[in-house]
Amino acid sequence: MDELEYHRCPQARSGPPGIVKALPAEWFVPHGTNAEMRWDTLPGAGPDTPVERFFVRNHTSTPLIDPDGWRLRVFGSGLRGPAVEFGLAELRRLPETALSAVIECAGNGRRFYATQQRQAVPGTPWELGGIGAARWRGVRLAEVLRRAGIVPGAVDVLPVGLDPEYLGEDGTNYGHVRRPLPVAKAMDDVLLAYEMNGGPLLPDHGAPVRLVVPGWAGIASIKWVGSLEVSTEPLHSPWDTDFYRLFGPAHPPGGSAPLTCQVVKSAFELARGAVLEPGRRHRLYGRSWSGRAAVRQVRVSTDGGVLWHRAHLWDDPHPGTWTRWSFDWRPERPGPYELRARATDDLGGTQPDTAEFNREGYLFGAVVGHPVRVG
Ligand code: MTE
Repeated sequence: MDELEYHRCPQARSGPPGIVKALPAEWFVPHGTNAEMRWDTLPGAGPDTPVERFFVRNHTSTPLIDPDGWRLRVFGSGLRGPAVEFGLAELRRLPETALSAVIECAGNGRRFYATQQRQAVPGTPWELGGIGAARWRGVRLAEVLRRAGIVPGAVDVLPVGLDPEYLGEDGTNYGHVRRPLPVAKAMDDVLLAYEMNGGPLLPDHGAPVRLVVPGWAGIASIKWVGSLEVSTEPLHSPWDTDFYRLFGPAHPPGGSAPLTCQVVKSAFELARGAVLEPGRRHRLYGRSWSGRAAVRQVRVSTDGGVLWHRAHLWDDPHPGTWTRWSFDWRPERPGPYELRARATDDLGGTQPDTAEFNREGYLFGAVVGHPVRVG
């Protein structure tokens, strides 16, 4: 079945509806319209997540957009003049930039609020596979905004996705996925990306062009971007007022400020419940990341957090992307064990034992217990 045919009869395929690429069960865990990456597929994969194994987070379904007909419309009170349009070929002629960055869902790790902290939260029950790292190539958003004539008084940029409008569970139509980006971030390190790991973007990851907003919650990295409103007045959408804020007892009644930076996290490249042979050395691999700064140090415990050992870092840590690490472990006694990893970033941010509760289960940054069995 080709992709167009699939869009006519999505029920004919197994796996999350609306995702175009193949989702083999050994690589992905399906959740509604989303597909979670399985961490045990990563050993030996290199620093970036192969595109075919990259997680997918879709509010609705992947649109198939003709790259030749695609236009990016830039308009609004924050421009000196009228609306300006860019086609893909024009974007490709502008100075190009490449950067390595993870895209991570704000709800990554949400499942552990329930399983580790006994706190019920709604939403996609991601373990830690709502993340992927890639080498993105494109043009800086700042370059496009300058060429479009952004004025010094502009405060917000609102990218809008071309995927279908999002309907809530109660039938509320929230419109197209869109979320304002403060001009300070838009003019800093944000990319309008048209390539991922050396090839064109796949449809599921935003083809022909998506935003990549390093360090920020994945919702900021709008896929299939079709327009950018630039405004001298603050802009809002449900994605910065109703969703992607922290609500709950520790936060003001209207919620926290809209989520921006991700917290420090770590994951083992190992299945939960993996079985390891006793009496031989196992190299435990993992990755750690932080939205604010490069990872400085990772410590690993193999006894549920009693003793901690420094892990070996395999990458020069960089802000915006993850750092690979390993720890050699020779368990002698058969039985159940709990592995833990705790990372610290260059700003001193470190993973706590408990994540502060919020109603939607965002930003689970606590150390995650990883059960294995030796035997
Ligand atoms: N952009 C649009 N237009 N529609 C979406 O549903 N999902 C966002 C973001 N950009 C989304 C979007 C969320 S919540 C995340 S985590 C990332 O895309 C996921 O990117 P990926 O599917 O390429 O992994």
